[in-house]
Amino acid sequence: MAESILILAIESSCDDTGIAVLKDGKILSNVINQQKIHEEYGGVVPEKASRLHLKYIVPTFQKALEEARVQKEEISAVAFTQSPGLIGSLLVGEMFAKGLSLSLNIPLIAVQHLRAHVLSLLIEDPRPAFPFLCLTVSGGHTQIILCRSVSDMVILGETIDDAAGEAFDKTSKMLGLPYPGGPVMDKLAQTGNPKAFSFAQPVTDAFNFSFSGLKTSVLYFLQKQSPSFISDHLNDLCASVQYAIVESLIRKLMKAQEEYQIKEVGIAGGVSANSYLRKRFLEECAKRNCNAYYPKMEYCTDNAAMIATAAYYKFLANDFADLSIHSKARVD
Ligand code: KG4
Ligand code: ZN
Repeated sequence: MAESILILAIESSCDDTGIAVLKDGKILSNVINQQKIHEEYGGVVPEKASRLHLKYIVPTFQKALEEARVQKEEISAVAFTQSPGLIGSLLVGEMFAKGLSLSLNIPLIAVQHLRAHVLSLLIEDPRPAFPFLCLTVSGGHTQIILCRSVSDMVILGETIDDAAGEAFDKTSKMLGLPYPGGPVMDKLAQTGNPKAFSFAQPVTDAFNFSFSGLKTSVLYFLQKQSPSFISDHLNDLCASVQYAIVESLIRKLMKAQEEYQIKEVGIAGGVSANSYLRKRFLEECAKRNCNAYYPKMEYCTDNAAMIATAAYYKFLANDFADLSIHSKARVD
């Protein structure tokens, strides 16, 4: 029998230190250390994020090995998120991965974070068949991807300004909600009326998105109201903002589905955890007889399991990096 492939993967692109262990395509552990300190600042403070990655990467590594019941000497390859992200944060993961690669004499695998979000749909069954469409919605990115194979992805459209997660976070900040606002808004919106207020839904070309107009329309609307307006209408405001964001995501995704006639459709990234997006996505897929996929909650927001999965396919393709590789804040 062929020897098992054991991959240890590190995700440190933003404010969460994630380490996962994968064996022959199956996740054995997926540990995440969330940095709560950024809540105090209403957003991620890059310098603090990188220092905390340094502090937590070793204990996170130990916990990931322990939960997987694996010794570091058994690892076949080490993977890390190489781009995009906060450069100081990425560097911590890169250096740790390179140290392991050198000391254990194992290959290094560099993973692009956004591709890994798409491949999070392949972590567990049911998995989409190729080709599939994926709407990747996170704090930094909003893209519609045509995924033809694990290594062949085409961007059909993307945001021309703010990302969907950023739209959630910035508008919830205007409503006085804590950071990150997306999950809080999701919860409050559940008892609100999505049609209570009407906020701008952008008109953009083809499969592109824009969320900066929505942000401005919420701001101007709130400026005209009385001091108690937000607290009196918080749930309706959340539901109405969420409605504007989600409907514009769904409209473009379904436009791509119709144009490309692809019946396998997924959503991924932090915002794919949103309950209203999931509901609308399922409804629209059912109408079109499409198979709908989304990752389980722990694989929606940033995690190392998706990095390990992307790395597994690179391992099978002998696609390794050498020590001269460097992290990049942006995708080339
Ligand atoms: O994928 P992710 O963890 O990090 C990036 O790669 O950016 O996504 C984080 C984003 C944040 O903007 C957060 O507010 C949003 O995902 N998010 C949500 C929900 N859960 C996380 N947005 C709306 N509803 C949610 N339930
Ligand atoms: Zn992400």
